Amino acid sequence: MDKLIIKGGNRLKGTIPISGAKNAALTLIPCALLTEEPLTLRNLPRLADIDGFQHLMNQFGVTTVIQGTRPEDFGRVMSMEATRITSTIAPYDLVRKMRASILVLGPMLARAGEATVSMPGGCAIGNRPIDLHLKALEAFGAHIELAAGYVKAYQPDGGMPGGDFDFPVVSVGATENALMAAVLANGTSRLFNAAREPEIVDLCNMLVAMGAEIEGIGTSNLTIHGVKRLHGATYRVMPDRIEAGSYACAAAITGGEVRLEGAKADDMMATIHALQAIGIHVDWDAKSVTVAANGALKPVDLTTAPYPGLATDMQAQLMALLARAEGTSVLKETIFENRFMHVPELARMGAHIATEGRTAIVKGVERLTGAEVMATDLRASMSLVIAGLAAEGETTVRRLYHLDRGYERLEEKLQLVGADIERVDD
Ligand code: UD1
Repeated sequence: MDKLIIKGGNRLKGTIPISGAKNAALTLIPCALLTEEPLTLRNLPRLADIDGFQHLMNQFGVTTVIQGTRPEDFGRVMSMEATRITSTIAPYDLVRKMRASILVLGPMLARAGEATVSMPGGCAIGNRPIDLHLKALEAFGAHIELAAGYVKAYQPDGGMPGGDFDFPVVSVGATENALMAAVLANGTSRLFNAAREPEIVDLCNMLVAMGAEIEGIGTSNLTIHGVKRLHGATYRVMPDRIEAGSYACAAAITGGEVRLEGAKADDMMATIHALQAIGIHVDWDAKSVTVAANGALKPVDLTTAPYPGLATDMQAQLMALLARAEGTSVLKETIFENRFMHVPELARMGAHIATEGRTAIVKGVERLTGAEVMATDLRASMSLVIAGLAAEGETTVRRLYHLDRGYERLEEKLQLVGADIERVDD
């Protein structure tokens, strides 16, 4: 297994290209199930999770073709064609490895009339239930059965009528599943308190490009008028706001200046505001975001929340940054109950962080020191890389499969801006 070796202290300077968004791609790919015509996605990040999802689509009989990619290019183009769906079952072995597999439930049910998906089970960042995914589909008229660790959803005789669902808590995944199911329903569906993350807007925009009728895009109330069929489309995946935010933290902790090429400021305003409060200078135009730090980092109080609030996916990276601030910061995690697994590892690098339930109190220290660390989830792993870039001495990060799930060619991108980081065979 590979590991990353980081020698901290280099000031990052230059330009990092931002990839297509993982969390958008993982909901755009299953949309290929909604039409027998080809769906082509451009700007797909090269990530283990995307390969995994491609494999899952192949299991359903969807043909996938990767086009014109050179190894030196970031991103790629994938065409998918679901002319005939040969299986409606997402098996345990694939779902276990990739939670996002649950996102085939809605579109498969809509197109094939039934879908059987293994339940994703627990996850390192807390108990992640799927009850709201199922309740929304039931509200549209679907029948749901649970047996032997699988969810089976099927349409009633005469097809799915559509209906209304009011989310008791904002759920990104459940909103995505509901949208993909409602677009082919017989009637109109309405979603209240729906998630309005930029990735949801990306999904809605692509569904509209495929012929769907959706009102209220970008708001928490969505109205979906079901259509008889959807057609193919070519769609460019939005830039990854979390990847951009992560590299912004990396630049900031080193006192560096980095241009995030392709990042879209509008999608990451909560992160930008947090960085500004920490004392980082942030500039942007239509095509990029530039961060510049001059050393001093101010402590801040931050709370994660559904969009447009601060993304839970940015909490660990901002915590690494605040570990070096001049004073005490308070970070509250409101989305997941167990998302501080990076804290003990950051402590091994000299950070002073105490947790109390969903609150972390971060007392900034003057220096972090390199250590051997590993993390149990994607963003936690990134927080260790960020700390390692500023730490004195050498940091070794293990369990890189987490990072490979979400950061396209991480070490290459950091090398581009002068980081001393390399991937070696363990
Ligand atoms: C969540 C994040 C998303 C992030 C992703 C990966 C939010 C609102 N969502 O999306 O930004 O990219 O994790 O880290 O910030 N819930 C239920 N029942 C359900 C579904 C969810 O109770 O059926 C609860 C969850 O336990 C959680 C909250 O709703 O407390 C939000 O979960 P949800 O948005 O569905 O999670 P993801 O889609 O994984």
